[in-house]
Amino acid sequence: MKIAVVCYSLTGNSRYAAERIAEGLKADLYPLEPVRPLDPASPMRYVRGGASALLSILPRLKPYDYRSENYDYTVLVFPIWAGRPAAPMLSFVSENTFPPDTVSLVMCSKSGHVRGCMRKLGRYIVGVKKEPGLNLVEPVDASEGTNASALIAYPKELKEHIKQAEKARRSAKAR
Ligand SMILES: Cc1cc2nc3c(=O)[nH]c(=O)nc-3n(C[C@H](O)[C@H](O)[C@H](O)COP(=O)(O)O)c2cc1C
Repeated sequence: MKIAVVCYSLTGNSRYAAERIAEGLKADLYPLEPVRPLDPASPMRYVRGGASALLSILPRLKPYDYRSENYDYTVLVFPIWAGRPAAPMLSFVSENTFPPDTVSLVMCSKSGHVRGCMRKLGRYIVGVKKEPGLNLVEPVDASEGTNASALIAYPKELKEHIKQAEKARRSAKAR
């Protein structure tokens, strides 16, 4: 079973989560980088980042080696911007296609509200679901407690989900 973890992070939370998840899953990690990155220290990041996520202004990404056909499963780790997936992750999903039930989402935010995010991703990933996935609130600041135990439990839960989904696919084929 080959698993990829693809992440975009502006201020380190998603990168932190992605590294732990990749380690737990023994997965390949692909950090995404926009050609023209936002300055994580500039107050303008909220205006530029928020507008790009709201209006689906998709930034160009630096070349990456990830190819979906090389993996059985892909975990996407990214921040929420203006209630939507951060625009660089939207660029990534718009450039790739994924077979049904082969994508899991790990979303980092300040509030934990991700509904608009699911709607937006549904335009790019057929049948995308919130489960199995993680909804993390500032995992770097709160690296103890709930986030920490969720990050430890998630790789095990995801592996079990993949096993069950594979079993269901095989028995549907046999029928
Ligand atoms: C442009 C921008 C917009 C954001 N919008 C939201 C939002 O709508 N809801 C929310 O809960 N957090 C929002 N945040 C906070 C981030 O989602 C949160 O800090 C996240 O953990 C950052 O992940 P990162 O460190 O990997 O970049 C926003 C941050 C930025 C920079």
